[in-house]
Amino acid sequence: MANTNWKQYFDKKAETHGASVQASDYFNEESFFMQRDNTLRWLGPMKGKEVLDAGCGVGAFSEPLVAENTVYGVDFSVKSLEHAAARGLKTSVDDLMGLSFENNKFDAVMCIGVIQLIEQYEKVIKELARVTKPGGTLLIQTLNKGSVQRKLLSLYEKSKKFERMYEMEELKQVFERHGFKQIEFLKMYHPFKFVTKSAGGGGLSQWFSTSFAIKGVKVK
Ligand SMILES: C[S@@+](CC[C@H](N)C(=O)[O-])C[C@H]1O[C@@H](n2cnc3c(N)ncnc32)[C@H](O)[C@@H]1O
Repeated sequence: MANTNWKQYFDKKAETHGASVQASDYFNEESFFMQRDNTLRWLGPMKGKEVLDAGCGVGAFSEPLVAENTVYGVDFSVKSLEHAAARGLKTSVDDLMGLSFENNKFDAVMCIGVIQLIEQYEKVIKELARVTKPGGTLLIQTLNKGSVQRKLLSLYEKSKKFERMYEMEELKQVFERHGFKQIEFLKMYHPFKFVTKSAGGGGLSQWFSTSFAIKGVKVK
C-alpha cells in the first residue's frame, strides 16, 4: 500500500461505512473508544478553545470537544467530511501538507492516525506547528515502530498498509525542532485497555506499546 491514494481510499470507506469508526480504519468501536477516551483525558480540560482536528476523517475522535469548543476539522476526503460536519465540526477540505489557516490560530491541534500515511510527515508537523498558538498544544497519535506485536502482525499482513511507523524519540526530536517543549507520551498496548504516560520514549514501552500519542507546548 506504499503508493495508496489515501483520498480515494477514505472517500470509499466513508461511502461504505458511513459515519462509523470503521470508516476511519479503526478495528472496532471498543478499540476506538479506548484510544479516544484516554487521549482526550490526557489532553486535559478544553473549554472555549479553538481546536483543529487535522485529518479528522468522519470526526468521531474530536466530537466530544464540540459542545464546549470551536472544533475545526480538515481532511482531503470530502466524503468523510460530510460526516464530520454532521457531528458539529467546522469542516473544510484541505491538504495537511499546506493548510489554509493563518499562523498561530489554534489553542490545540490534534492529528490522530494520520502521519503513518504520509511519507513527508515532517512537512505536516511543520504545518501543524505553524497554526498552533504560542502556548498552545500539539498532539499527534501514531503507530509505534518498535512494537513487537506489530512486527509479528506484519509477517501475516499482506496489504502492508501500516508499513510506516515511528519511534517515540524520533518524533520527540521533530517536536523539539519545530519549537515544542514539555513533551510527553501516552502509550497504548492493544488489545489491552491500559495505557502508560511518561516524558520519554524509552524503556519497555518502546517494544510493547502498539501506538502512542505525543504532545508538546509551543514555545512563546
Ligand atoms: C486513519 S484516518 C483517521 C481519522 C481521524 N483522525 C480519526 O482518528 O478518527 C486518516 C485520515 O487522514 C486523512 N488524510 C491522510 N492524508 C491526508 C492529507 N495529506 N491531507 C488531509 N487529510 C489526510 C484521510 O483522508 C483520513 O480521513
